[in-house]
Amino acid sequence: MSETAKLILEGKEYEFPVFTGSENEKAIDISKLRDQTGYVTLDTGYKNTGATTSKLTYLDGEEGILRHGGYSIEDLTNHASYMEVCYMLFNGELPNKEQLAAFETKISRHTLVHEDMKKIFDAYPTNSHPMGQLIAMVSSLSSFYPASLNPNRNDEAKRLTMFRMLAKMPTIVGMVYKKSIGHPIIYPNNNLDYVTNYLYMTFGNVTENFEVDPVIVEAMNKLLILHADHEQNCSTSTVRIVGSSQANLYAAISAGIAALWGPLHGGANQQVIEMLENIKADGGDTEKWINKAKDKNDPFRLMGFGHRVYKNFDPRALLIKDACDKVLNKLGINDPVLEIAKKLEETALKDPYFIERKLFPNVDFYSGIIYRAMGFPVEMFTPLFALGRLPGWIAQWKEMIDENQPIGRPRQIYTGYPLRDWKPIEKR
Ligand code: ACO
Repeated sequence: MSETAKLILEGKEYEFPVFTGSENEKAIDISKLRDQTGYVTLDTGYKNTGATTSKLTYLDGEEGILRHGGYSIEDLTNHASYMEVCYMLFNGELPNKEQLAAFETKISRHTLVHEDMKKIFDAYPTNSHPMGQLIAMVSSLSSFYPASLNPNRNDEAKRLTMFRMLAKMPTIVGMVYKKSIGHPIIYPNNNLDYVTNYLYMTFGNVTENFEVDPVIVEAMNKLLILHADHEQNCSTSTVRIVGSSQANLYAAISAGIAALWGPLHGGANQQVIEMLENIKADGGDTEKWINKAKDKNDPFRLMGFGHRVYKNFDPRALLIKDACDKVLNKLGINDPVLEIAKKLEETALKDPYFIERKLFPNVDFYSGIIYRAMGFPVEMFTPLFALGRLPGWIAQWKEMIDENQPIGRPRQIYTGYPLRDWKPIEKR
């Protein structure tokens, strides 16, 4: 007999089916709760709500496990190319050689953006935050590809939109960076692979030949894979909820980028470096800053620490810390904030406040130090996160559209005034 959950409300007993995932995760299926009982659930921040089923990513926050398509994040970062991971997220299986080559060729055909997109760029003040520009540029793609407005037109059209989105994002992120430093934009060179092409559009210069250290390409490949998908986080849920209204992919991704910008989500990578720099400028007393983070009367939080789902360790943080050491050693960079970061981590991990609350370094804690060593300014850290998370957003959107999921529309419990008599303005 299949498992059920019993609920007693006002003396009446109800039964709800238990849904079991492929890794034995259990959920009480309450889709008929309101119909049967008149009640809804209340779960602010969705801490206990499974908003969807998904075949893309498995995450066990207690055990520190992250897998895409059944492959561990450790295997993927150590062996796969970013394009292989993108292919797998889009298709459910790793590609063979021919499939990968065909996929890469297809993506490379769409790397250019419409020349008129540059006019939109021109209107931005040079010092505006790249994330604001990215949101607008990605949303603008819908104006240049009006056929994408109906996400259900047909499978071929859907795939073309997905390919365009994946192909044009590095170009746009590169343009945003070039604008911020006042340099002419660099057009994509489709002889280069996806990751190198992005680095070329960022660090290439019209006046010089482009050379990039293979260590940087390898680190970038790893960093992008580490960010590729992360099940139903804030930005991915945003992409799904916007997409569920049948808005087009570009609009949904643009909304996801907006959600990612916040300091409690992807914006944390910028905040971490700024925090570490402040601690350094303040004399490097990590103990003092740990105490500030613990003080409930102080709004300061240790940025890059804590996670909604990981309650043991964030496997991505371990991989990034390792990559960080390698990149800095190879490039011969001695970044004093790395020492501060390691000291903060060491002190926090021994402190009962952090132990009791299960607060560990997350993916953002060390990523900024590598980005900086590679030559990125802090404002580009969150756009880099967006670039990495893009295939996950696209794949989650596709999964939702293919499964014909209903529009996302949570309920609420109203706590405002009951009906009141109208009061004319002169009597208020
Ligand atoms: N520093 C100090 N205390 C913290 C921190 C932190 N970084 N994170 C959580 N806490 C404390 C909270 O004050 C709370 O304490 P309390 O129980 O005494 O009230 C407890 O730990 C639980 O924290 P919540 O905010 O309820 O946990 P939640 O799951 O809602 O938030 C979040 C998770 C947003 C990541 C949080 O840990 C945080 O703000 N971290 C810093 C920002 C950050 O690094 N964000 C990136 C996350 S990873 C990503 O999105 C890619």
